[in-house]
Amino acid sequence: MSAIKRKMVSQLLKTAPGESVLAKGWVRTKRGNKSVIFIALNDGSTINNIQIVCDPNHFSEQLLKDITTGACIAVEGELVESVGKGQNVEIQASQITLYGKADPEQYPLQKKGHSMEFLREIAHLRPRTNTFGAVLRIRHAMAFAIHNYFNSNGFYYLHTPIITASDCEGAGEMFQVTTLDLNNIPKDEKGAVDFSQDFFGRQTSLTVSGQLEGELGAMALGRIYTFGPTFRAENSNTPRHLAEFWMVEPEVAFNDVYDNMDLAEDFIKYLVRYALENCMDDLRFLNDMFDKELITRLEGVVNTEFVRLAYTEGIKILEAADAKFEFPVSWGVDLQSEHERYLVEKHFRKPVIVTDYPKDIKAFYMKQNDDGKTVRGMDVLFPKIGEIIGGSERESSYEKLQQRIDELKMDPTNLWWYMDTRRFGTAPHSGFGLGFERLLLFVTGMSNIRDVIPFPRTPKSAEF
Ligand code: 4AD
Ligand code: MG
Repeated sequence: MSAIKRKMVSQLLKTAPGESVLAKGWVRTKRGNKSVIFIALNDGSTINNIQIVCDPNHFSEQLLKDITTGACIAVEGELVESVGKGQNVEIQASQITLYGKADPEQYPLQKKGHSMEFLREIAHLRPRTNTFGAVLRIRHAMAFAIHNYFNSNGFYYLHTPIITASDCEGAGEMFQVTTLDLNNIPKDEKGAVDFSQDFFGRQTSLTVSGQLEGELGAMALGRIYTFGPTFRAENSNTPRHLAEFWMVEPEVAFNDVYDNMDLAEDFIKYLVRYALENCMDDLRFLNDMFDKELITRLEGVVNTEFVRLAYTEGIKILEAADAKFEFPVSWGVDLQSEHERYLVEKHFRKPVIVTDYPKDIKAFYMKQNDDGKTVRGMDVLFPKIGEIIGGSERESSYEKLQQRIDELKMDPTNLWWYMDTRRFGTAPHSGFGLGFERLLLFVTGMSNIRDVIPFPRTPKSAEF
């Protein structure tokens, strides 16, 4: 091979014909006859392939035989105008190097149209499909847009810990972290596990949320956000739950719950608009292949004002609904996905922000309303997804927070540092958590959360 610099396929497709070029990638398809062979080459930089045109007399028979779907090659040649439809340019190959064969008898991604279930079993190879290439590029674009949004709005990225001794959501759904020998667990006099002998000298777990430490950051830097992996050992095998998922959590000093709603709405609209402006090739593919309403739905969200609805009003609507719910509705119950989707898809037909939930179904840190029954929580509900964001104004009064911790019989020993924010210069503040994969479900139109993360972790499944 000569010293030509490789161009990515995304670049090649925008290059004017007439240049000597070098392309590298994986073969998607090969077709042709005795006088000409066409190879569709993809390198992941875009959903589009570059077409390679070869004169079979110019290459060895063995080489051409080895160029099968999935094989990796480097191609040098002349970029020429393409007469075929579907592309403006193609490469007239002069030299081909085979990096790696992919035996057609064994390479699983032969024909198109594999089921999503089958592709999950080969998650190490599925990024090479059009669908997962599109999803993963959109995933990247959304992560980038998140940092972009916060950076341009005066937020600082705070890295909150992954290993923690506190249960932010109080649901007890944490994965324990220990170096104790599970076959020989040390016990104290009372027969309980002696965590003083564990690595951290105490019981620790993987975090379910960066919020508590995020609040500490907001009390110093004003506006912060976290964006990292979070872990939940909830045994929910649903298309919307992962045991390991990524969460984006902004926390803002001096914001009340209304500011929090404004931020959530502006933020999510920015992200969807960003996808429409920057990921159109991939979105169009997903729209055509999986969900003909996708782009329309995305445009709809950008151009609509979200409904704001008190929980109590929401319950009235659901009680009056002429729909059969699996879980019956009455004041005090937690909204199930079917209820959330009724409100969003049937009743209002647009995103809904539900506020002022009963305190008994929400976490200890939410600001208590004067009615003694509800808290200033806010969930953003989306079409097809249900809850995409959960957040609240935080209880900033030391006394009220302490009282709530007592009521819930929570162990206060691991929260002294959190309580200190309410002792020293406490301030009204608010924040929320956006489930990154729930956002991706919405933006990509995929119907199972396992298909918007490269390597999903769910109950009984941690392959790859
Ligand atoms: O509503 P959640 O539990 O709220 C919190 O964790 C707060 N501490 C956030 C905050 O105020 N800073 O979770 C927030 C979001 C949900 O709305 C949902 O989008 C997502 O995280 N989420 C999950 N996503 C995938 N799999 C799971 N098991 C999820 N659990 C929550
Ligand atoms: Mg929630």
